[in-house]
Amino acid sequence: MTNIRDLGTLHGDVLLFGGAYSNAQALDALIAAADDHGIAPSQCIFTGDVVAYGADALGCATQLAAFGCPAIRGNCEQQLLDGADDCGCGFGEGTACDVASKTWYTHAAAQIGPQAAALWAETPDWLTFTHAGKRYAVIHGGADAVAKFIWPSDDDTVFMAEIERVEARTGKVDGVIAGHSGIAFERALPARVWINAGVIGMPPHDGRSATRYAILSDDGVRFHTLHYAYEAAAQAMEAAGLTQGYEVGLRTGIWPSEDVLPAQLRR
Ligand SMILES: [Fe+2]
Repeated sequence: MTNIRDLGTLHGDVLLFGGAYSNAQALDALIAAADDHGIAPSQCIFTGDVVAYGADALGCATQLAAFGCPAIRGNCEQQLLDGADDCGCGFGEGTACDVASKTWYTHAAAQIGPQAAALWAETPDWLTFTHAGKRYAVIHGGADAVAKFIWPSDDDTVFMAEIERVEARTGKVDGVIAGHSGIAFERALPARVWINAGVIGMPPHDGRSATRYAILSDDGVRFHTLHYAYEAAAQAMEAAGLTQGYEVGLRTGIWPSEDVLPAQLRR
């Protein structure tokens, strides 16, 4: 059963962000950016995956909890809550994601351990809220599968089918805000919009080190770049033995796991 929390009506700018990915330096920068924009934590919404590739799983989880913004569970939180053996993405055996995830997930699980329940047992699966006269649902991956990848290259039919499944549980929405796939984008659909807020903990495979977040204003959504201390984050990964390629990805902006992407999104 999907646990849905309604935030009521939000007024003013709303900062949307996802995928802290155990990257403490990126989360520090995001919190500073929210302050720079004058956006309170209660107006920031996190789309899940506070832990993943980086060195500081527990630090990020506790810092996000202290920040106190509305948040949903990603597949990474869910798998750690369930005591699962992997991140739940279902990567093919031997793919770059499969090989790397065995290492970072083990590292995150060792840091989080039984604290998962205290951190995330009360975290909902989805959020709903109303903003500027429009109703939104916040989900992580797909409506029926938390770790489903939905890409900007997918057909409108994919998005509309997902929205239909979301609305079966939330009632009608004007937009869905998602995370998980790691690439920020907005897709205009018939009478709906799909917004992926992107992730702060890994660049969007664009050859640059900066990451992404979004701000929803009364006139729509805009994407922002997040500059942060990526070299320190990469060095922390190396010190922790997390050297399967994501530490290089922080520096180069190129995913080591390009094989997870649809062909048209590869470089
Ligand atoms: Fe995810």
